Amino acid sequence: MHKILFAASEIHPLIKTGGLGDVAGSLPVALKGLRQDIRLIMPAYREAVQHAGDLQTVATLSVSGATDPVTLLEGWLPGTKIRLYLVAAPHYFDRPGGPYGPNGQDWPDNAARFALFARAAAAVALDQAGLGWQPDIIHCNDWQTGLIPALLAGASPRPATIFTIHNLAYQGLFSWEVFQSLALPQAWWSPQALEFYGQCSFIKGGLVFADWLTTVSPTYAQEIRTPAFGCGLEGLLQHRAQRLVGILNGADYQSWDPRHDPFIAKNYNVRTLNLKAANKADLQRRFNLPQIKDVPLLGHVGRLVDQKGIDLLLDIIPALLQQPLQLAVLGSGEPRFEQALLKWAQRYPERIGVHIGYNEELAHCIEAGADIFAMPSRFEPCGLNQIYSLRYGTVPVVRRTGGLADSVVNSSAETLAAASATGFLFNEASALALLDELQRALNWYAQPRKWRALMKQGMGQDFSWQHSARQYLKLYRQAQHGPSEA
Ligand code: ADP
Ligand code: GLC
Repeated sequence: MHKILFAASEIHPLIKTGGLGDVAGSLPVALKGLRQDIRLIMPAYREAVQHAGDLQTVATLSVSGATDPVTLLEGWLPGTKIRLYLVAAPHYFDRPGGPYGPNGQDWPDNAARFALFARAAAAVALDQAGLGWQPDIIHCNDWQTGLIPALLAGASPRPATIFTIHNLAYQGLFSWEVFQSLALPQAWWSPQALEFYGQCSFIKGGLVFADWLTTVSPTYAQEIRTPAFGCGLEGLLQHRAQRLVGILNGADYQSWDPRHDPFIAKNYNVRTLNLKAANKADLQRRFNLPQIKDVPLLGHVGRLVDQKGIDLLLDIIPALLQQPLQLAVLGSGEPRFEQALLKWAQRYPERIGVHIGYNEELAHCIEAGADIFAMPSRFEPCGLNQIYSLRYGTVPVVRRTGGLADSVVNSSAETLAAASATGFLFNEASALALLDELQRALNWYAQPRKWRALMKQGMGQDFSWQHSARQYLKLYRQAQHGPSEA
């Protein structure tokens, strides 16, 4: 059994802005199921405190740079036996929103907020909080936790440090002035440490100093070592390649399974697939689309940003309108994408439904009600929606990149015969390639027996955390007992 402290900036159901929240709320549950002593640590955002239920103050921490006292609140991850620590520093965390502001914008003091969080987590990791508990492993996630491995690197004894990259494109970059204001060791202002082209990079704290690096799919682990996906960090990742492992995310089938999903109109399973039609009708109703049974309904849920290739989808709308098809999109993000989508929905309200905003329930209804789920991502470290789509019998059309390539099997006569086909993949990040592939999917859709076979094949896939959690466990073992020199 390992003692593991799992640090993240968002944890579902306390707070979530994307897939990181899903992972941080479900991987630890799987590890607990493997009898590990795993505890969570996250900032005490106002909303998270509201969702966490009973909390006790268990420690006051002396954290350098903090203006107010920093306290540690202890509770449980709702619905689990997983101990939760929330780092309370009201000046930084008792405000609306979570890691980012209510509209997804960066808080101007995010460097100070996550430096403070990192210092508090490092203190807990070194058993300086008076908890009488020192983890063997601290598992950090994304740039918001990047300073933790750096802060721990020189300490002895210390837990082994693991840093998971969920998205290399978000690096936590701050100016020299901000770096100075954080009172971090001056020696860190070096390309061998945090300095990155004249800025201070929080993610480098993880990439340089963690004992082990992981990312959320095997394909992305390869991709980020190349200039096309490395965001300027490919050299460093090449250098650390022996310590970089790709482990595919799992899905939380407690929350995402049409057999018992409480958000959807009608529960169904692989043997009652015809009940999916009730969810399609419900989805059409929710988006004010005509309730036509046989028209293919294309769904998309996600952050409306460049990464997700939403512009490719926008580009092909005129072509899609040439044929019978409905489109339902839920998302929020860059105003230019939000406005473009809304404009199409206003012009063709009978064909295109758009909901701008964050809506957990509607996300489930799209998974259950759509026929096809489109994910034309330019890059996708793992991606969860395509994995959920598979379980809901909603056939994914995805770009062959990152975790999309690792979780969807392209449909062809051969893969259909081999009972492995689950979706459609295209290579090039272009509108034309997306259109071609959607066309191919629509052709299959028009052949009900083939389509049903695809749906069933997808529903039978098992991406539960069991397998991936065991891979993390193997890594923890290696990190704790193996040599820590990279
Ligand atoms: P990323 O983490 O890059 O945003 P993922 O596919 O890993 O992408 O995870 C996205 C998660 O966030 C999924 O659970 C998805 O359903 C959810 N999500 C994204 N946008 C929205 C939205 N507008 N409303 C509700 N849920 C959303
Ligand atoms: C990131 C990635 C996404 C991944 C998620 C959880 O936000 O963009 O692909 O699924 O993290 O690991």
